[in-house]
Amino acid sequence: MKVCLASNIGFCYGVQRALDMAEKAATQYPGLKIYTLGEIIHNPLVISRLAEQGIEAVDHPDELQPGVVLVRSHGAGRQIFEDLVSAGHTVLDATCPKVRRLQKKAEELSRDGRPLILYGQSDHPEVLGILGWYDGTAYVVRSAESIRDLPALDNACVLAQTTTPQKEFDAALPLILEKAPNAEVFPSICNATDVRQKEGRELAAECDAMIVIGGRNSSNSAKLADACRQICPQTYFIQDADELPLDELRSKQRIGITSGTSTPDWIIKEVYTRMSDIQNPEILNPEVEESTTVAPAEAEEEREADFATAFEKTMVQIRPGQVIKGKIVSFNDSEVCVNIGYKSDGFIHLSEFELAEGQSAADVLHEGDEIEVEVVKVNDGEGNVLLSKKNIEVRRNWDELVKAQEENARFEATGKQVVKGGLIATVKGIRAFIPASQLDTRYVDKIEKYVGQTFPVKILEVDTNRRRIVASRKVAVQEEAAAAKKAKWDLLNEGETVKGIVRRLTDFGAFVDIGGIDGLVHVTNLAWGNVKHPKDVVSIGQEVNCLILKVDRENQRVSLGIKQLLPKPWDVADEKYIPGSIVTGKVVRIVTFGAFVELEPGLDGLVHISQIADTRIDKVESVLEVGQIVNVKVLDVNTQEHRISLSIRDANIPVTENDYSAEITDEEIVDGENDDLYETADIITEEE
Ligand code: F3S
Repeated sequence: MKVCLASNIGFCYGVQRALDMAEKAATQYPGLKIYTLGEIIHNPLVISRLAEQGIEAVDHPDELQPGVVLVRSHGAGRQIFEDLVSAGHTVLDATCPKVRRLQKKAEELSRDGRPLILYGQSDHPEVLGILGWYDGTAYVVRSAESIRDLPALDNACVLAQTTTPQKEFDAALPLILEKAPNAEVFPSICNATDVRQKEGRELAAECDAMIVIGGRNSSNSAKLADACRQICPQTYFIQDADELPLDELRSKQRIGITSGTSTPDWIIKEVYTRMSDIQNPEILNPEVEESTTVAPAEAEEEREADFATAFEKTMVQIRPGQVIKGKIVSFNDSEVCVNIGYKSDGFIHLSEFELAEGQSAADVLHEGDEIEVEVVKVNDGEGNVLLSKKNIEVRRNWDELVKAQEENARFEATGKQVVKGGLIATVKGIRAFIPASQLDTRYVDKIEKYVGQTFPVKILEVDTNRRRIVASRKVAVQEEAAAAKKAKWDLLNEGETVKGIVRRLTDFGAFVDIGGIDGLVHVTNLAWGNVKHPKDVVSIGQEVNCLILKVDRENQRVSLGIKQLLPKPWDVADEKYIPGSIVTGKVVRIVTFGAFVELEPGLDGLVHISQIADTRIDKVESVLEVGQIVNVKVLDVNTQEHRISLSIRDANIPVTENDYSAEITDEEIVDGENDDLYETADIITEEE
């Protein structure tokens, strides 16, 4: 035969706490009568044991003699406490902390003038106790009819009796919300009962007989027995070891044992010990795979030790700093309740969960979700376990941060608060100090503008002992700019055309911004022809197309050319300057045989001395001077030899349409002359 103990047996946290307080009071107040207001637990065996210790249960304050009065885990209303104190009793409050939370909530609702809807049994001491902390009209509902009778309520809050089965409440809640659509649903249900029922059902499915131990008048034990019976028909609901159906159990292969929340461990122990009378049972704890075979001849102490070990293993032990897994039981807009398998649930402040703007807790949290938590306090003073999710993340992030910092990584920081000398920011949830001088590449006079902002930082210093980080936004910005610049340099290729803006002019050229990099267009590369000063060709702010001539990445210099993208004047001179046409030019040079007239930068034509005036002239200077603007007639264009013959004389003779052909004939004559003239000009130029 194998005997399996359920994982959660014995008293629940609230009942155990109340019993401990009662027993302690018996020794703490010798000579004083110790009372409990109502039975501390629904188990006659426990009650009679307490009575043996001088702890008496009374139903009403009128029955009390002066002494110590313990208010049981169900709690009581404010008035009862006040009455007890004013009657001169010493009052011990053993209200279960989970019930106390509901009383406090009721008090808060009362202060805020908000309606209270309390789901539960209207005559249950816990319900009466909660109502005793609320001043106003409260609505206690349970049946569908009582819910239907609710008036329309605005800004209400729904509480539930802690022992309400979750399924039952889930079914009733939509009906309640029809009457109070914007009601707050405060997490109230204690999962101690539900957890036992779930485990009981699971165990029942594996066994051919189940023993459920609990007081006959304990409703949670009776419900537990019913739940097990639905799965395993051979379920026996017993109050103590005397009620064990030993004969019927003898033929069973595998027997499960569970108990209600008001069953003390000594009764469970007695049941187990009696089971060993049947034959040699093997204790199995579903949580722990180990099993122990108890030989018939072995001593009672050994069996007790086995039982104690198995029983001990059913209880989760926790300590501050321990990391454990838990399941979300419920949540509201301030805290998240997590079942960690301990006798008491744990709470995490909702602010530990990062909610994006516009997100509610329901968007990111789901009941039943498993999360990893760290135990901060085993008892926060109200009997609750204080948990943290953030502590684990911070520790994990710290390790990551130290490692990444060694690898010179960048991090996202969020500005939190201006402090003396700089800004406090969080990096992966860890506080970091950014000195004012490290906030930007320039002086920052308004540090507060970084509060609430997210920006990249580099870690300058990590003090592992003091858990301090010094970070720099400036270094991150500088690195970012350098990387962007390098990327731009990498994109520059000689021979490519780029657009740019003229930013600066100097005597030797123009600096053009080609997307964050300034390139130089040397004066000789601005235009074809002779450019005296860049301002003659371009102006500041002008957009220009440039050819990348040379990229010197090492010295970060780039040479650009504008003229290279323009056609060479001589290549198109014959298309632009048609013989016979009259154009304007500037006298740029005077020689003995004529004058050179610039038609455009890089394109000069010759006016032979014979073509300057109608009459013969001896000296060109007597008629023309350098810089003079003149009209000239194009006589001939020779792009091959870079020669244009011009005439001032003919440009001033009115030409009629009929004359045009005659002019052409003239040109042909002059054309021949021009060749000689150019040759002469060349020789003279060289001599000069
Ligand atoms: Fe408290 Fe839950 Fe027990 S509310 S008394 S721990 S069943």
